[in-house]
Amino acid sequence: MDIEWDVLRREAVTAMGKAYAPYSNYPVGVAAVVDDGRLITACNVENASYGLGLCAECGLVSALAAGGGGRLVAMVCVDGEGAYLMPCGRCRQLLFEHGGPSMRVATADDSSVTVAELLPRAFGPHDLDEMAQKTARC
Ligand code: THU
Repeated sequence: MDIEWDVLRREAVTAMGKAYAPYSNYPVGVAAVVDDGRLITACNVENASYGLGLCAECGLVSALAAGGGGRLVAMVCVDGEGAYLMPCGRCRQLLFEHGGPSMRVATADDSSVTVAELLPRAFGPHDLDEMAQKTARC
């Protein structure tokens, strides 16, 4: 699939404008394309209990599921100035779950990296499958 990175970036900036980030004053927006071609967006939503804030990528995977599911193909994440932002550690795990190792994430040098590069040797669903198989053999 050809990725329209400019469109994703524009949509991510628009989503960033809807962020609820009164505690960090650090709005974040994301836009991603799904394997069926649809485009989904989200922003970070914080909480008075600081540690419970939701990263923009959390909203993204909720939008993915609520909109019919599918696999994330590519994502742009931007900060309050519209600059490319790399997903935090927890969110890399979310992207691995819903996009897999080949999903692409835009980088500041107008390029992109794979989730496999962002989260090498990831723990994922395959580990649970292997455990279930081992248990079944016992
Ligand atoms: N944040 C995201 O939304 N995504 C990331 O990948 C990095 C961090 C948010 C969480 C918090 O609301 C704010 O940025 C400052 O950490």
